[in-house]
Amino acid sequence: MHKTGINLLELETVDSTNTYAKNNFDVLADGTLVCAEMQTAGRGRLGRHWISPAGTNIYASLVMKRINHPFYATATASLAALNMLLQALPRGGFFIKWPNDVYSGCRKIAGILCEAVSVGGTISGVIAGIGVNINLTTQELDRIDQPAASLLSLSGREFDVKVMTRKLADQLAFFYDKYLTAPSELFAEWKSCNRIIGKTVRLTDPAGITRSVLVRDIADNGELIAEKDGTSYRFNCGDVSLDKDDLSKPRETE
Ligand code: BTN
Repeated sequence: MHKTGINLLELETVDSTNTYAKNNFDVLADGTLVCAEMQTAGRGRLGRHWISPAGTNIYASLVMKRINHPFYATATASLAALNMLLQALPRGGFFIKWPNDVYSGCRKIAGILCEAVSVGGTISGVIAGIGVNINLTTQELDRIDQPAASLLSLSGREFDVKVMTRKLADQLAFFYDKYLTAPSELFAEWKSCNRIIGKTVRLTDPAGITRSVLVRDIADNGELIAEKDGTSYRFNCGDVSLDKDDLSKPRETE
């Protein structure tokens, strides 16, 4: 048992740690972090593929049974990944891009895929899948269909994936506890790590429609509150892209 209740289940090869955690949800304890050395069918958001070569990156899925809204799983997992990365490279310029990606400048370094597990229409928990690029080389990153980074590409040195997984587990324990004891603090911290409030962004909804919208705020349930032509809209999922210039600008607090 890992301290503060995160229990690592280390597997060699699976199709997807999310699929494994979902299929075994009933027998896995709350707080189990299912990790694999490689995934043969890693899944991303919106039906995308997640590249998962052996021994190179973190592929992990946290079983969260005491959470009843996927948004809080997203906030917990993205803050944990962000803080693990900041610990590894304090000057890496990492931030969360709504709803749950972690970026360095204009490049994505980590992605989160949260999936609710329901019984008879009631959510009995959430699987928070976390993929973090650790040792992908720049050549490998160039083959990804969007700008991507890894700890190796940003720092020029390799990191031990197992050590980084344990550091992620520590952060997950911390933020899962925070959710359980002070969810409004977790929300406030997650919101402050997002960089899009007040910016005009291109938002692609799950139907594939892209609109340019002005982001006004993020609601308490994680929805994006945006405005277009004087009308206010709320989005609970989708893909946001910011201008390259916006993404690479350092924050005033950095
Ligand atoms: C995204 O940004 O599209 C989400 C990517 C999530 C990838 C992780 S890797 C571990 C877990 N298992 C999966 O199949 N997907 C998630």
